[in-house]
Amino acid sequence: MPLMTWKDDMSVGISSIDEQHKKLVNMINELSDGMKIGKGREVLGTILDELIDYTAKHFKYEEELFDKTHYLDAFNHKKEHADLVKRVLDIQAKYKAGALTLSLEVMDFLKDWLVKHIMGSDKKYSSHLCAQGVK
Ligand SMILES: [Fe+2]
Ligand SMILES: [Fe+2]
Repeated sequence: MPLMTWKDDMSVGISSIDEQHKKLVNMINELSDGMKIGKGREVLGTILDELIDYTAKHFKYEEELFDKTHYLDAFNHKKEHADLVKRVLDIQAKYKAGALTLSLEVMDFLKDWLVKHIMGSDKKYSSHLCAQGVK
């Protein structure tokens, strides 16, 4: 069973962003499945790198839209993104150094962060970006 499932109530009403969020859900599932079936350190490390990479791209996409449309809550939202980036880079560094194993706790942290962020902060920009014609 996958760790996370996309649900329609996670939609922010902007299809380009929903697609990116779905991809993040899939990537977290891939990492979690890989962990459960005992894939090697190197394989999991690569999946983790890809997840971090794609997360950075996704955050940049949202933040550029905030700048372009003068979104008022951009500062706080960017701060939440930066906090997560810091935490996952820390996980990545510890993982690479052999000081951390991917555990259910780590996976739950990623899952909970994503769901909370989408349902909370991301949903807050829906009406603003929609009104600006973002699709
Ligand atoms: Fe997002
Ligand atoms: Fe966001």
